[in-house]
Amino acid sequence: MTDESPFRPEHFGKYDESDDALFYTEPRFVTHIDDVAIAALSAHYAAVLQPDHRVLDLMSSWVSHLPDGYKPAKAVGLGMNAAELARNPALDQWVVQDLNENPTLSWEAASFDAALIAVSVQYLQRPLEVFAEIARVLEPGGICIVSFSNRCFPTKAVALWQGLNDAGHVQQVGAYFHHAGGFERSQWFERKHPGADPLYIVQARTPHD
Ligand SMILES: C[S@@+](CC[C@H](N)C(=O)[O-])C[C@H]1O[C@@H](n2cnc3c(N)ncnc32)[C@H](O)[C@@H]1O
Repeated sequence: MTDESPFRPEHFGKYDESDDALFYTEPRFVTHIDDVAIAALSAHYAAVLQPDHRVLDLMSSWVSHLPDGYKPAKAVGLGMNAAELARNPALDQWVVQDLNENPTLSWEAASFDAALIAVSVQYLQRPLEVFAEIARVLEPGGICIVSFSNRCFPTKAVALWQGLNDAGHVQQVGAYFHHAGGFERSQWFERKHPGADPLYIVQARTPHD
């Protein structure tokens, strides 16, 4: 396999090229996957996250899907809608930032032990920059957990995502980790239950010192 990035600018166009801030002006107090998929995601987090973890929930909203009763050392959210983030009971702090406008994270290196991107990675137009930033703000040995299902806001999902099926999305996110640099080999998991939204998880760790 060549190590040259397979990604091209046209992969990251989207049907609605207007400012993302317009799309996210109004809060949406809804969930984007069903309860079965949410339970599977929370169970995965329960298996990975530790009480002393500093957690960064990127592309966050009013829910973070952290396990019931789990209280990390710190939880920080980044998203597009202030009203959603303000109502998220999991978050100690939050910031509004458009990662397509500005993929640079404001935190110092090694500020977090875990970074989460739940059902949102398909909206990133500069994913390699964002993933490189995630690697920077994670501690050595930290983990980034990306989850997604088979639905999205189609006008805001990037062109490459639209052209791929679920298995292709797993590969796409794995390639984000690989080509961003700063991560060890990614792992993926599939959680499927009849009649429920499928859940896919792709995760990778930053190397230990
Ligand atoms: C489908 S919702 C998922 C929200 C939440 N993570 C969850 O699991 O329910 C998509 C989220 O991506 C965020 N988002 C979309 N485009 C973004 C961008 N350009 N920069 C930062 N966040 C973005 C929105 O704020 C929104 O909360």
